[in-house]
Amino acid sequence: MRFMILYTTIRPLVILLTLCTSVLAQLSLPNPPFLPPNSSSGAQPSSGGYPNQQWTTLLGNLLYFYEAQRSGELPSSNRVSWRNSSALDDGIDAHIDLSGGYYDAGDYSKDTFPLSFTLMSICWGANDFGKGYDLANQTAYLDDMLRWGLDWLIKAHPNDTTLYVLIASKDTADGTYWGGDRSIPSPRPVYKINDSQPGTDAAAGAAAAFAACSNLYASRALDNGTFSAPAKLRNDSYSSTLLTHAQQLYAFAANATGGRKTYQTSVPQVAAAYQSSGYGDELAIAALFLSWATGSASLYQEAEAYYSKYKLGDANRVFNWDSKTPGLAVLFSQIAQSFSASSGNFSAWQAVAENYFDSIVNNQGPGSLTKDGLLFFQGDSNLASLNPALNTAMLLHRFSPLASSAAKKAAYLVVIIFFGCHNWSLNVKKDFANRQVAYALGKNSMSVPYIVGVNPNSPSNPHSAMASGGQDIGQIDTSPAQETYVLYGAVIGGPDERGRFFDIRSDWPQTEVALDYNAPMLTLAAMHVLADTNDPYYTSLKAGAYDKVKPQGFPCDPVFSQGCQGPHLSKGGLIAMAVVITVVGLIILGLTVYYVVLLLKRTVTT
Ligand SMILES: *[C@@H]1O[C@H](CO)[C@@H](O)[C@H](O)[C@H]1NC(C)=O
Ligand SMILES: *[C@@H]1O[C@H](CO)[C@@H](O)[C@H](O)[C@H]1NC(C)=O
Ligand SMILES: *[C@@H]1O[C@H](CO)[C@@H](O)[C@H](O)[C@H]1NC(C)=O
Ligand SMILES: *[C@@H]1O[C@H](CO)[C@@H](O)[C@H](O)[C@H]1NC(C)=O
Ligand SMILES: *[C@@H]1O[C@H](CO)[C@@H](O)[C@H](O)[C@H]1NC(C)=O
Ligand SMILES: *[C@@H]1O[C@H](CO)[C@@H](O)[C@H](O)[C@H]1NC(C)=O
Ligand SMILES: *[C@@H]1O[C@H](CO)[C@@H](O)[C@H](O)[C@H]1NC(C)=O
Ligand SMILES: *[C@@H]1O[C@H](CO)[C@@H](O)[C@H](O)[C@H]1NC(C)=O
Ligand SMILES: *[C@@H]1O[C@H](CO)[C@@H](O)[C@H](O)[C@H]1NC(C)=O
Ligand SMILES: *[C@@H]1O[C@H](CO)[C@@H](O)[C@H](O)[C@H]1NC(C)=O
Repeated sequence: MRFMILYTTIRPLVILLTLCTSVLAQLSLPNPPFLPPNSSSGAQPSSGGYPNQQWTTLLGNLLYFYEAQRSGELPSSNRVSWRNSSALDDGIDAHIDLSGGYYDAGDYSKDTFPLSFTLMSICWGANDFGKGYDLANQTAYLDDMLRWGLDWLIKAHPNDTTLYVLIASKDTADGTYWGGDRSIPSPRPVYKINDSQPGTDAAAGAAAAFAACSNLYASRALDNGTFSAPAKLRNDSYSSTLLTHAQQLYAFAANATGGRKTYQTSVPQVAAAYQSSGYGDELAIAALFLSWATGSASLYQEAEAYYSKYKLGDANRVFNWDSKTPGLAVLFSQIAQSFSASSGNFSAWQAVAENYFDSIVNNQGPGSLTKDGLLFFQGDSNLASLNPALNTAMLLHRFSPLASSAAKKAAYLVVIIFFGCHNWSLNVKKDFANRQVAYALGKNSMSVPYIVGVNPNSPSNPHSAMASGGQDIGQIDTSPAQETYVLYGAVIGGPDERGRFFDIRSDWPQTEVALDYNAPMLTLAAMHVLADTNDPYYTSLKAGAYDKVKPQGFPCDPVFSQGCQGPHLSKGGLIAMAVVITVVGLIILGLTVYYVVLLLKRTVTT
C-alpha cells in the first residue's frame, strides 16, 4: 500500500490515498530488447495515451547511452552492436582486476569521482520517481546500468582504506588517443587513494553513491506520500553489500590516518580533468544518505555538523560532480519530512532550500538566464552549459512538492493533478524547471534538442572517440565526414552563453558526452513519464529547423581561441589554457601599464 499526496494550485491541497497493487520485479532484460528508434521517430507527435510513448522512448535512449559507454567484457545481452569488449587488462600491473565499469566521456579514461556522482544521482532519482522507469518498462535496464557501475566500484574498493580513483589519466598518451575501442593504448596506469594518502572527497563521494543505491535496492522509499515508489528492482542482499561499502568508505573518508584532504593532493593526475574544490559537501551528503539507509539521527546530525563546519551554505552555487551543496538542503528536507526519527528540522531546511531556489527562479543568482532562456552559471556553465541547468531543474522538480506555499510550488514546477493510481498528469506551464527541460529538448534559439539521435535536429557530431569512427586526432572534424555511429541518448555539453551551437566534433565544451551529463535528464525523464501526457518539446520541431539558423564560423571558446582553428583540447587541457590566457593577459596588462607610464612621463617631461 502506498500513500500519495498531490498538490494543485487550482484547488486547495488535496490528499488522496490510493491502494495500488504492486507488481513483481521483472529483472530479466526485455525480449525483444528495447532499441532506440531512428531519429525521425522523434519528429512524430505521439497519439496521446499514458504513459506517453515519446517520454518512455527518451528514458530508454538515455539509459542506452550508458550501455554504449561500457568498458570491459561485454555480455551477450549487449545492445550496442558496434561496441567491442575492451580494456580487459585494467589493473593488471597493480595485480587487481579493474576491468569493467564505464568510460567517463568522449575518451577512454575511467574516473571514479564523477562516476560516483552519476550513480548517486541516478539512484536518488530512481528512488523518488522510480515508477517512471517501471511504467516505461525500463527498470531491468536501469538495474543493468547501475550494476555495471556499482560492481566495478566494488572492485575499485578492494579493502576498507583503498579506492582506485582513476584508470588511464587524461594527460598520458591514452588521453590523446582518438580511435576505436579495439586499439586503446596500453599500459593504462591506475591510481588509488589509501589510508596514508587519502582523498576525503573521492571516498565520501563513493560512500554516497553506495548508500544512495543501497536505499534504492532496499526499496527504502522517502515518501511520506510525496514521491512515487522506488523502481522495482529490490534485492536485499545486494543492498546490504552496497551499504557495507558505503559505511567503510565513509569511515575512511572521515578518519584516514593521512587526514582529510582533497584527492588531488594524493593523486595529482586526477587534477587534469576532475579536480575537486573541497570535501565538506561530500562528507555531508554521504552522512545524509547513510542516515536515510540506517535511520540514524546521529548521522543526520553529523551531516549538519559538516554543513556548518565547512560553511557549505556560503558556497551554494551549482549541483554537479564537484559540488553537492544545493542538493544537501533538498535531501535534509526530504529526510526530515519523512522520518521524524531523523531528528531533522524540516522547516529549517525547507527555508534554506527555498532561499536558494527563490533566488534562482527570480533571476537573482547564482546563475542567470541567457537571452534564449538557459540558466547559466558563469564558470561552471562555460564548459558544459546544459549540465548545471538540468541539475537545477532536477532539484526543483524534486523539491517543489515540499515547498511551503502553493505560489512557490508553482514557480518551481507547477501542479501535479491526480487522475488515479496510474494516471498522473503534469500541467506544463511557465514554470522554471520545465522551461529548462524544454530548452534542452529543443525550445531554444537553435531549435536543437541537445540529445543525440532523438530528432532530425539532434546534434550530429558528438565528441566521442568511439562513436566518431575517426583514427586521426589531427582531423577529428573531417575524418570521417559523418560520424560513423549514432550515440543514441547522449546528452551533450550544450550551446555557448549566446545560445549558439556549432555542432563541431572537436569542440568538446559543446559536443562532448559524459556520464554525469545524462544523469539529471534520466531523473527528469522518469518524472515526465510519470506525470506528463504531453510530448517532449522536440516532436514539434520542423525538419531542417537547425540548418536554417545554424551559425556560421566557429564558437569562441577555449578550443577555438586562436583564429578559431586551435588544436583539440581534452577537458584537462583547459587548465593549461587558462594558465596561458592568464599569463598572456598579465603580459598585455604589463605592457599596457608600461606604455601608459611612458606616455605619462613624456607628457610630464614635454
Ligand atoms: C526510420 O524509421 C521509420 C519507421 O519508424 C522508417 O520509416 C524510416 O525509413 C527510418 N529511416 C531511416 C533513415 O532509417
Ligand atoms: C510495457 O510492457 C507491457 C507488458 O508487456 C506493455 O503492455 C506496455 O505497452 C509496455 N509499455 C511500454 C511503454 O513499452
Ligand atoms: C588493500 O588493497 C591494496 C590494493 O589491492 C593493497 O595494496 C593493500 O595491501 C591492501 N591493504 C590491506 C590492508 O589489505
Ligand atoms: C568494434 O569492432 C568492429 C569490428 O571489428 C569495428 O568495425 C568497430 O568499429 C569496433 N567499434 C569501435 C567502437 O571501435
Ligand atoms: C598508499 O599508496 C602509496 C602509493 O600509491 C604507497 O606509497 C603507500 O605505501 C600506501 N599506503 C598504505 C598505508 O598502504
Ligand atoms: C540479488 O543480487 C545478488 C548480488 O548481485 C545476486 O547474486 C542475486 O541473484 C540477486 N537476487 C535476485 C533474486 O535477483
Ligand atoms: C572516526 O573516529 C572517531 C574516534 O575513534 C569515531 O568516534 C568516529 O565514529 C569515527 N567516524 C567514522 C565515520 O567512522
Ligand atoms: C511524515 O510522517 C511522519 C510519520 O511517519 C510524521 O511524524 C511527520 O509529521 C510527517 N511529516 C510531514 C511533513 O508530513
Ligand atoms: C525549526 O526551525 C524553525 C525555523 O528555523 C524554527 O523556528 C524552529 O524553532 C525549529 N524547531 C526546533 C524544534 O528546533
Ligand atoms: C486519465 O487522465 C485523463 C486525462 O489526461 C482522463 O481523461 C482519464 O479519464 C483518466 N483515466 C483514469 C483511469 O483516471
